[in-house]
Amino acid sequence: MGTVKVHDKTFEIYITEAEIQQRVKEIAEQINKDYAGKRPLFIAILNGSFMFAADLFKHLRIEAELCFIKLASYKGMKSSGKVVTSIGLEEDLFGKEVIIVEDIVDTGKTLHNFLPKLMHQQPKSMKITALLHKSAATEYPLTLDYVGFDIPNKFVVGYGLDYDGLGRNLKEIYQVI
Ligand code: XMP
Ligand code: MG
Repeated sequence: MGTVKVHDKTFEIYITEAEIQQRVKEIAEQINKDYAGKRPLFIAILNGSFMFAADLFKHLRIEAELCFIKLASYKGMKSSGKVVTSIGLEEDLFGKEVIIVEDIVDTGKTLHNFLPKLMHQQPKSMKITALLHKSAATEYPLTLDYVGFDIPNKFVVGYGLDYDGLGRNLKEIYQVI
């Protein structure tokens, strides 16, 4: 019961459904307090954050907007580094209180590269919530405002996170054995 097989790998349960739900509720309650009287725009990063975003949103009691975007990395023509571009961001962020919703921050590279693009639109504020943070693996400077769980640098699946496309449907979070 405590293990699942996804493709060729076996994973063991690491965070239970009840623990996830409790923590997501706590984060939502903190946001309810911090954003009382405001109307934040949540930008959830697909695909992994769809479940976290949905559960988080159910516990919000403030007025809030939500949109989903996808990030795509490509090699810049001139720079040697990876450039991150977003697909599906139609909202104008000018003057908005933005909260980025991520499933997991690992090295921090994705958000570190992407945030300046959002800041360019001059939102009033920009905060990040990540359900999971592999803080020991984070190499790029990034301030995470609401973190669910700090986890070791091991691959995890479930609750939206996948291993090669599978495992997203699991209600719990599993760690590779
Ligand atoms: P960076 O390194 O840019 O990575 O912070 C963030 C993205 O990498 C993926 N990622 C994972 N996906 N299990 C997963 O299913 C993991 O353990 C894992 N670690 C990183 C994820 O897409 C995240 O948005
Ligand atoms: Mg992701």
